[in-house]
Amino acid sequence: MEMKNERSFYYEKRDQFNDSIDTGSVDRRMQASLFYYLNRTCFNGLCRFNNSGHFNVPFGKYKRINYRRDFSIYMQKFKKWSFICRDFERIEIDGTGFFYADPPYDVEFTKYATDDFTWNDQNRLIRWLDRHDGPIVISNQATNRITNLYLDHGYNVSNISAPRFINANGDRSRAVEIIATKNI
Ligand SMILES: C[S@@+](CC[C@H](N)C(=O)[O-])C[C@H]1O[C@@H](n2cnc3c(N)ncnc32)[C@H](O)[C@@H]1O
Repeated sequence: MEMKNERSFYYEKRDQFNDSIDTGSVDRRMQASLFYYLNRTCFNGLCRFNNSGHFNVPFGKYKRINYRRDFSIYMQKFKKWSFICRDFERIEIDGTGFFYADPPYDVEFTKYATDDFTWNDQNRLIRWLDRHDGPIVISNQATNRITNLYLDHGYNVSNISAPRFINANGDRSRAVEIIATKNI
């Protein structure tokens, strides 16, 4: 697929991607190519869908984008991986393997999907992780209630200044992120 860091081309491809969501009859290979292109070209690499399930991130502001065209180096690596897309509670937790959870950030107005990830979901996630005996790492926005929640569930926590801003439109202060670890 052709990839260009150009506004009109971007919106054309975004429409094409959203049409493929609407029709349901998709060429998966093409849809994956479109998603890669949109993800690299869109504003800040965001992944956001509106209530109709359409990808709605505007065109980005990159001077130059090095698009990858050859993904063969990943093929060997991913051979033994399974990619699953479903609610976390429907993923089987087996044994003592390493777990990294990167849930939607606990912050107002941040939406990664059609449905909001609510405070109840943040609690649901931590209770579900309590069933796992192996090492766990969780990252999130360092709000007070998230810090308290992770401490209450026996995690060690540390804060880092995230390489992103709270609000691209005005507030230029860096987001503070929490890294919570357990059984490590
Ligand atoms: C902060 S993003 C993770 C980004 C990812 N680590 C990456 O580097 O691309 C949060 C992710 O949680 C997913 N998510 C939202 N609700 C979920 C749920 N109930 N169960 C599992 N995943 C969920 C979203 O689709 C989104 O991809």
